[in-house]
Amino acid sequence: MTVSSVRLTARGICHGFHTLSVLEGVDLDAAPGEVTVLVGPSGCGKSTLLGILGGLLKPDAGEVRMDGSLSPDCLNPITYIFQDASLLPWRSVAGNVSLALEDSRLPRAERAGRIAEVLAQTGLSDFARAWPRQLSGGMRQRVGIARALAVHPGVLLMDEPLSALDAQSRALLLDDFAALIARAGVTCVYVTHNLAEAVLLGHKIVVLSRRPGRVQATLALRRPLVGRHIEDPDLVALQHQLWDLIRDDAARAEREIADAAD
Ligand SMILES: Nc1ncnc2c1ncn2[C@@H]1O[C@H](COP(=O)(O)OP(=O)(O)OP(=O)(O)O)[C@@H](O)[C@H]1O
Ligand SMILES: [Mg+2]
Repeated sequence: MTVSSVRLTARGICHGFHTLSVLEGVDLDAAPGEVTVLVGPSGCGKSTLLGILGGLLKPDAGEVRMDGSLSPDCLNPITYIFQDASLLPWRSVAGNVSLALEDSRLPRAERAGRIAEVLAQTGLSDFARAWPRQLSGGMRQRVGIARALAVHPGVLLMDEPLSALDAQSRALLLDDFAALIARAGVTCVYVTHNLAEAVLLGHKIVVLSRRPGRVQATLALRRPLVGRHIEDPDLVALQHQLWDLIRDDAARAEREIADAAD
């Protein structure tokens, strides 16, 4: 599969809900075939920004552009992966993946070929006929990834895709993630609260401030550190650097959430 040449650019994004200002003047550059990670305190507007990037939400101000050419067999330029794969329980693994292709006019054989391809990519070939309830959380999330990749997207938007998993499934899937994303050759924007995930997967890490979210810092990594041990000094140093940037805002955001709950 060829590497996506799609670049996603956001300029001057502002957005609010009623009187709540959520994003203020956010610029973002997701380079072709790279993983751009977004981190920031709770409620700072990460999911809102992802929705705007994917065209689900129209920003109050600013613009999102997609440049570059999509592969000729792309059925959907942008797809999402959320915390929970939201599989249909009455459909098999292959049936859930085929959902992404049902609106397309792909000939039956080509559709079957794509399903087989993405199941192989995500290590699920032996589970094509399994039911979602027979799978672990990590495997269900793989099905979600297979479904997203089946359309051969130019851009993959991922909103905390590992956060609902137990620590072991998370570690296992994380090991596979960078390879999977690289093999699919897709431009990716990845939201996480987990700084180890951020430094392992990211080519670039964008730190948002507490709400209203603004870009507080951007760290460019020479290459993803995936596969490194969690105690690797480069990895630890980068996590410290990120935590220093986030700590004060994260603490304030937590206090605001607690105050709002009183
Ligand atoms: N549809 C909506 N209507 C009103 N307020 C909203 C809506 N969606 C989000 N918000 C508010 O906007 C702010 C930003 O929400 P968003 O979900 O983008 O934050 P986030 O950074 O993804 O948070 P988290 O880290 O908890 O996932 C929050 O205060 C949230 O309550
Ligand atoms: Mg969110």
